[in-house]
Amino acid sequence: MPALVLLGAQWGDEGKGKATDLLGGSVDYVVRYQGGNNAGHTVVVGDQKYALHLLPSGILSPGCTPVIGNGVVVDPAVLLSELSGLNERGVDTSKLLLSGNAHLITPYHTTVDKVTERFLGKRKIGTTGRGIGPTYADKINRVGIRVQDLYDESILEQKVEAALDFKNQILAKLYNRRAIEAAQIVDELLGYAEQIKPFVADTTLILNNAIDEGKVVLFEGGQGTLLDVDHGTYPFVTSSNPTAGGACTGTGVGPTKINRVIGILKAYTTRVGAGPFPTELFDKDGEALRTIGGERGVTTGRDRRCGWFDAVIARYATRVNGLTDFFLTKLDVLTGWEQIPVCVAYEIDGKRVEELPYSQSDFHHAKPVYEMLPGWSEDISKAKTFSDLPKNAQAYVKALEEMSGAPISAIGVGPGRDETIEINSFLS
Ligand code: GDP
Ligand code: IMO
Ligand code: MG
Repeated sequence: MPALVLLGAQWGDEGKGKATDLLGGSVDYVVRYQGGNNAGHTVVVGDQKYALHLLPSGILSPGCTPVIGNGVVVDPAVLLSELSGLNERGVDTSKLLLSGNAHLITPYHTTVDKVTERFLGKRKIGTTGRGIGPTYADKINRVGIRVQDLYDESILEQKVEAALDFKNQILAKLYNRRAIEAAQIVDELLGYAEQIKPFVADTTLILNNAIDEGKVVLFEGGQGTLLDVDHGTYPFVTSSNPTAGGACTGTGVGPTKINRVIGILKAYTTRVGAGPFPTELFDKDGEALRTIGGERGVTTGRDRRCGWFDAVIARYATRVNGLTDFFLTKLDVLTGWEQIPVCVAYEIDGKRVEELPYSQSDFHHAKPVYEMLPGWSEDISKAKTFSDLPKNAQAYVKALEEMSGAPISAIGVGPGRDETIEINSFLS
């Protein structure tokens, strides 16, 4: 099983970090292919808790080579501080590889991100303010700065000047902000160049060779399917492609080389930031999910919006990603409810709809159609096999599997590495 993709099936924060870390011990490379430090991936190893933003979760597994692919946007200051934070905790980060084609997030990108949100006012997206959107915009506009530009000073100067020519007009004339000096940005970026240099590599060549040699490569998505700029709830999305295709464009590995695509699926639903969310709860159940599930953002500290499981979304994730498996996380959080509502379809303008509507206006007023499933009260956090689960928890998992369109091959019953029930091996 040489290459597999692991991605979020909902709106992010499904538990991707834990799932990646779990497999990390058995894989040779863990590769981030999109997004940047907007991600917040939590990994709990014994009594140690790690919050990773830009680095692949595989960095915590000795023997695994972490890779930042060309599709990722990299804030060099964040990269270096995340690395030194891990080094201080005794984690060896020397194997990291960084694509020379990855785009750099600079201070002007974070500034533009923040002022744009302020300018949008009530219509804001609720971004993480990390400069993600403006950096991808520059990439598509062909005025981006890439990692490799750090090693050609005159090119770097020309590119930063070209980018700021236009951006300064917007900052000064539209947003009433002071213009940003190109020389200052160039100096700052050059200050990172030497420290980053040992990691820079031709990651496309390395990854393709690794797969050809039978090495196991895991592509780790940031964000989630419904935050995808093409397939998500646009414009309330991030600016990259977390869906499976992004693993190809974001690394230079062709789709014929990918064998398995695993969707990480929370046993209920959460979302951070603005945008439609049909099963969102505003009552004590929503509050209970937030408290029991610890649903507070790892990156921005914002409370996550919480709601019941939405099978329409899970089916959609199966479709647009070609999922082969699900990893169901946080089943333990649902312990204690007498009955658990699950959204099986939507009602839109009086009609029952089974698939995610392609029209944004329809999705905005989709009402969930719920089926009630019986709950359980037993502690499931020690369960090691599927049959250790109470009958009603087993039935809940089976019902979700049937509705979602792909087998559930693992179940999370707690945040720790060992709090997982493995049903089918992901690596066989
Ligand atoms: P990611 O962005 O997809 O990596 O997810 P986050 O780290 O933002 O949020 C997931 C949270 O759930 C983290 O606090 C994890 O430690 C925690 N978590 C992951 N899997 C489980 C699980 O099966 N049960 C419980 N209770 N917590 C989990
Ligand atoms: P992980 O990898 C949840 C959301 C933001 C906002 C929108 C756009 O931890 O699952 P951006 O800063 O990307 O331009 O913000 O996307 N968002 C996330 N929500 N988990 C994430 O990452 C997210 N990364 C971005 O809240 O609504
Ligand atoms: Mg997260």
